[in-house]
Amino acid sequence: MKIVRTVAHLREVIRAWRASGETVALIPTMGALHEGHLSLVRLGRERCRRTVATLFVNPKQFNQPSDLAAYPRTEESDAEKLTAIDCDLLFAPDAAEMYPPSFATNVSVRGIGEELEGAARPGHFDGVATVVSKLLLQALPDVAIFGEKDWQQLQVIKRFAADLNIPVAIEGAPTVRDADGLALSSRNVRLTPADRSKAPLLHAVLQRVAVAVRAGADPAEAVNGARRELAAGGFEPIDYIEVRDGETLGPPGPGPRRVLAAAWLGQVRLIDNIPG
Ligand code: PAF
Repeated sequence: MKIVRTVAHLREVIRAWRASGETVALIPTMGALHEGHLSLVRLGRERCRRTVATLFVNPKQFNQPSDLAAYPRTEESDAEKLTAIDCDLLFAPDAAEMYPPSFATNVSVRGIGEELEGAARPGHFDGVATVVSKLLLQALPDVAIFGEKDWQQLQVIKRFAADLNIPVAIEGAPTVRDADGLALSSRNVRLTPADRSKAPLLHAVLQRVAVAVRAGADPAEAVNGARRELAAGGFEPIDYIEVRDGETLGPPGPGPRRVLAAAWLGQVRLIDNIPG
């Protein structure tokens, strides 16, 4: 697998593929790759002739400097994992390539980007939307694939890609979980053994809320019960647990619903979601 670090080089490789009529899938990541990321690359290989993974720990989407500093950086083993599954190209720019000193643009998605994660982590989705806009325009793939674990992120990306007429299909891929239900995340390695054993409760509680709401329970009551259960299970604080419209992330309507939660175990913030 080839590794490129500049936009010019990325475009040169993709231009040559395009000249041979080849299609391109883009899989943006921040590295510390796990089976969840690799499933996105495999889906990319099903969709397109060529796959490009990106690795950039985007400082603009971290609202806590300590979280940015603690974010795992494992490029060598990431590249090995991508090579083993026949990813064609890794684009791993440095911060100066993505954000030169003159950089002055911000992509901000109102409404959907201000709810839930947007409220809990001010500026987070501006950072995501800004970097993903750049990656989409740098590579101009046929399809870009994102994990459903970050459900709200996926909806934000679909929104700005449509609003800005970015000619790339945005596709979500199912969350990959450990056998006990914990959604895979690069942050899971920071859980202490005691907290790791508590962590599957998050998914279990989401499932109970979804079952209750589907059976006709009042979403507010189901969520209150879930909040109590999470608190009793050691989650503190609980940033949110909510039943929302799956697309707009507003109050649940007649369309598909999503149950979403974010809560802390020690120093680690976990998020998860399932259909409601
Ligand atoms: O989901 C992530 O890993 C990041 O938010 C993304 C989409 C790569 C943008 O930095």
